Amino acid sequence: MSPQLLEAVEALLAGAGPGGLLPIVQAGHPVLRRHAAPLGDLRVARRGGRRLIDELVEAMRVTMHAAPGVGLAAPQVGLPLALAVIEDPGAVDPEVARVRERPAVPFRVLAEPTYEPVGDDRVTFYEGCLSVSGWQAATPRWRTVRLRATDLAGGHVDEVLTGWPARIVQHETDHLHGRLYLDGAELRSLVSPQEAGRYAADLTPARAAAELGFAGD
Ligand code: NI
Repeated sequence: MSPQLLEAVEALLAGAGPGGLLPIVQAGHPVLRRHAAPLGDLRVARRGGRRLIDELVEAMRVTMHAAPGVGLAAPQVGLPLALAVIEDPGAVDPEVARVRERPAVPFRVLAEPTYEPVGDDRVTFYEGCLSVSGWQAATPRWRTVRLRATDLAGGHVDEVLTGWPARIVQHETDHLHGRLYLDGAELRSLVSPQEAGRYAADLTPARAAAELGFAGD
């Protein structure tokens, strides 16, 4: 990791808003299209008595909660670093939770994550992104993926995830490779902020597919 990037982390944290909130960059900012760098020296760098990375993770956590969102990748706060945080309370409605396979995901950090599909099942649901604020599109994703990452203690993560947790991991990991969900979305499914409520209560994108003219599952 370059000294400039370390300085950028320090400057970002020093300039955080009330409550430690970080500004979220929007599509069109080139940092969202870059490949993120490994954490390198950021794993051990300290400011005061604290690891800088712990401060950054905390700031990303509160920023994700405030947005609110279920994942936030470092490029979304302007840092081309291979780091993301995720946390999902899960679907409240049991039928939604069943159809979308959306259980609660406790807070966790993904450092230098990669994923690969397990099997060839793909599932399409509406998805959004804090860096494409207010818009949503139906996005096919692998139903099951194998996640490999490191944790902040340097340990290795290797696990298989299915359903919405797998979707979140794919979305956030893609951010670290310069990809936005729109790159793989059904563009005809795009719903603007003004129309955000139109299909929100639907269990699947089937009605949207019929009305907007795109291929559902
Ligand atoms: Ni996103």
